[in-house]
Amino acid sequence: MKSAKNYIEENKQRFLDELIELLKIPSISADPAYKKEIIRTAEAVKTQLEKAGCDVVQICETPGNPIVYGEKIIDKNLPTVLVYGHYDVQPPDPMDLWDSPPFEPIIKKTETHPEGAIFARGSSDDKGQMYMHVKALEYMVKTNQLPCNVKFMIEGEEEVGSVSLGWFVERNKEKLKNDVILISDTGLIAKDVPSITTGLRGLSYVEVEVTGPNRDLHSGLYGGAVANPINILCDMIAQLHDENNRITIPGFYDDVEELSQEERKKMAQAPFDLDAYKKALGIEDIHGEKGYSTNERNSIRPTLDVNGIWGGYTGEGAKTVIASKAFAKISMRLVPDQDWEKITELFQNHFEKIAPKSVRVKVSPHHGGEAYVTPIDSIGYRAAEKAYEVSFGKTPIPQRSGGSIPIVALFERELESKSILMGFGLDSDAIHSPNEHFGIWNFLKGIETIPQFYHYFTKLSK
Ligand code: BES
Ligand code: MN
Ligand code: MN
Repeated sequence: MKSAKNYIEENKQRFLDELIELLKIPSISADPAYKKEIIRTAEAVKTQLEKAGCDVVQICETPGNPIVYGEKIIDKNLPTVLVYGHYDVQPPDPMDLWDSPPFEPIIKKTETHPEGAIFARGSSDDKGQMYMHVKALEYMVKTNQLPCNVKFMIEGEEEVGSVSLGWFVERNKEKLKNDVILISDTGLIAKDVPSITTGLRGLSYVEVEVTGPNRDLHSGLYGGAVANPINILCDMIAQLHDENNRITIPGFYDDVEELSQEERKKMAQAPFDLDAYKKALGIEDIHGEKGYSTNERNSIRPTLDVNGIWGGYTGEGAKTVIASKAFAKISMRLVPDQDWEKITELFQNHFEKIAPKSVRVKVSPHHGGEAYVTPIDSIGYRAAEKAYEVSFGKTPIPQRSGGSIPIVALFERELESKSILMGFGLDSDAIHSPNEHFGIWNFLKGIETIPQFYHYFTKLSK
């Protein structure tokens, strides 16, 4: 029987070539102008699932972008693994900061990736990671080693809130029935420090608009006498944190899950080098909520960040103007027990309350989702742990991540199954940023580890 390692070695070039083809299609979900590319990507994923050995593959229409569903059912009495991933990607902006075009994938060596890494938008988040599952299935089917049933659900709206996926899941519970959900859309601590993601943060995303005078004004004739909405917006945003970097919205922390000292101590055992962290980001010092470590600040604590701010004149040269309006996009990362709709409401009320009478504010909620934590004593977690032990030769560290995959909480509610987050990316992959890349080593390691998960999950389920 062929081992995964041998199979991967023999087919490595083809795997990479196929992934590169997928990465060439700009499946940007945030911009409706790319709808055609979204459809083309869904079709490409369908073709690859068929080639890999799925018996049924469908493109499922939704009110938004299509979902690719595939399955290989070998025996109704065996467990079923549902693989979730996304084929949509973030917009590549800002374009001028890319060293090579985002949709013309190239392989380059880096310090972290002497074996080479694929540079392209979506290489790590999430086309590259999703494709590991397609190739792991190919290996198991072609070598007759698939030990259980498998279903795939690959969506095209993850980067914009998975609205249609929620719609789809609610309507297809029977079709999606499974014993565990397997997702590779997160990361590892390091190539030699395997970890399994045991938590995701929730999210509340809002846009605010501050309006002052009913038209743009000459800043000499009116400056000093009327509210400048940009000045006011900056002031209001500044008020959202106090001197300890705690969020000032009343009630914001009410439902936050507080971890025990014991749990925090355990978390602190994960390897972390503060100097290397600062150096990698080019910063002199870190910043965050008083009383918490960096790893706590970016995983078990909620946050509020401005993601974009605009208004007034931003073109070449100078223009003396007081703009009528100022805008900002603001996201809040949430932790277990915080309800995203309640937090959105708290934000809205507070933001309206702190606005001076000289302006009007409008808060428009975008999307959101709940946080997620997974226990480490489930069959799914134990199977994942075993899988990493085999392929990395080390026991993986359970670690909560700061990122969000809001649909995971919905899966638990609607499908009543746990998601196991076996991600193979690295923090240095620059996801959502220019020069996103995914290590070839990580890609192949994922393909090697995934079949082990199937093996142990089936074995432990008996
Ligand atoms: N794959 C990421 C989330 C992620 C990355 C989690 C790394 C943990 C580690 C996902 O595609 C993503 O970007 N999610 C968004 C939320 C979404 C609603 C736009 C996020 O976290 O900003
Ligand atoms: Mn992702
Ligand atoms: Mn993403």
